[in-house]
Amino acid sequence: MSSLAKNYNRRKISFKYGKGSFLYSTKGKKYLDFVQGIAVNSLGHSNPYLVKKLKKQSSKLWHVSNAFTIPEGEKLAKRLTKNTFADSVIFQNSGTEATEVAIKFARRYFYHIGKPNKNRIICIKNSFHGRTIAAISASGSKKMTEGFGPKAPGFDHFTFGDHKKLKKLINKNTAAIMIETIMGEGGIKVVPNWCIRELRKLCDKRKILLILDEVQCGIGRTGKFFAFEHSKVKPDIVPIAKGIGGGFPIGAVLMNKKVAKSCVPGSHGSTFAGSPIATTVGNAVLDQISKKNFLKNILKQSKYFFDKLNKIKNTYPNIIKEIRGKGLLIGIQLHFDQSKFIKSLEQNFLLTIRAAENTVRVLPPLNVKKNEIDLAIKIINKVCKEYKL
Ligand SMILES: Cc1ncc(COP(=O)(O)O)c(C=O)c1O
Repeated sequence: MSSLAKNYNRRKISFKYGKGSFLYSTKGKKYLDFVQGIAVNSLGHSNPYLVKKLKKQSSKLWHVSNAFTIPEGEKLAKRLTKNTFADSVIFQNSGTEATEVAIKFARRYFYHIGKPNKNRIICIKNSFHGRTIAAISASGSKKMTEGFGPKAPGFDHFTFGDHKKLKKLINKNTAAIMIETIMGEGGIKVVPNWCIRELRKLCDKRKILLILDEVQCGIGRTGKFFAFEHSKVKPDIVPIAKGIGGGFPIGAVLMNKKVAKSCVPGSHGSTFAGSPIATTVGNAVLDQISKKNFLKNILKQSKYFFDKLNKIKNTYPNIIKEIRGKGLLIGIQLHFDQSKFIKSLEQNFLLTIRAAENTVRVLPPLNVKKNEIDLAIKIINKVCKEYKL
């Protein structure tokens, strides 16, 4: 009997080790892992370069307080702001903390310019920004907030695509609009580029901030470093996490200059965030992702994968409703609950994970190989062929 709390509905497999796109179970089975810690292991399992960098740093220095200057963190922040919208970075330990800090500094900005009543954040109903009290309140999800007492105040919600409602919600107390550039947990729902551009214009017109949550879709996942780059828009605040650590827990909030001005000593802090070891791994991930043609290759693999998946969809239109997503953030939306389908994929040694709206999330590592995509396609085809409706 497990002594762990029952907040997860865990599958009954465990793993001994992982290598690249594959996981090896304690029972000696080999699985193609297209979950990758839910878009976390951006460079696959036990990436030799990351292992080397981590080992080297671990024998030098793990942790020092943020009371001191941390060169590895300085370096990572410099790299994250070079050639991006951002001028400043606050490190965190997870995605939830990053979105929490994004909310904090949207409010703090207006406080700093003498408008403390501008503190409300507009979000999409049933979005996902993490699991702290503020983040679940931001999500506008009944399921996530149920039983957790009073919601954190200051959040307003509109339904995905309801632009009229969104415009109506903006008032003198609004500080920001916060959305995921691509809704991950929400079913791999891509916010169209034109829509992101309109959001930017709307925020400029109403003098409010635009927060784009890139915790799941950022750091190369869509074939651009940030997913919002596809729309050529510059947001004000961007929380990131998952992929930047390649499996090591790290989060961060990127801010432009005007927001960063409100970030004065004492306004925020964290014991663990931005440690030498975490930021060393972050730098190692960036070394790989910023290599020539790395992002281009993601787009190439993505096109190949989407073409093949759409072919399967056309062969099995009674099973697959839509292939969604961008880059290597992929959703196979079914016409029915996806649990049995995911189980069948697993029985054929392909690991995937659910998202809302009957969607099967497919999240290969960003350095996935063509023959690994072929293997996944073969398994998905087989499961569709044998699937009993
Ligand atoms: C868009 C988005 N924001 C925030 C989070 C929360 O991240 P974490 O689980 O690291 O706290 C997630 C996690 O899935 C996410 O997808």
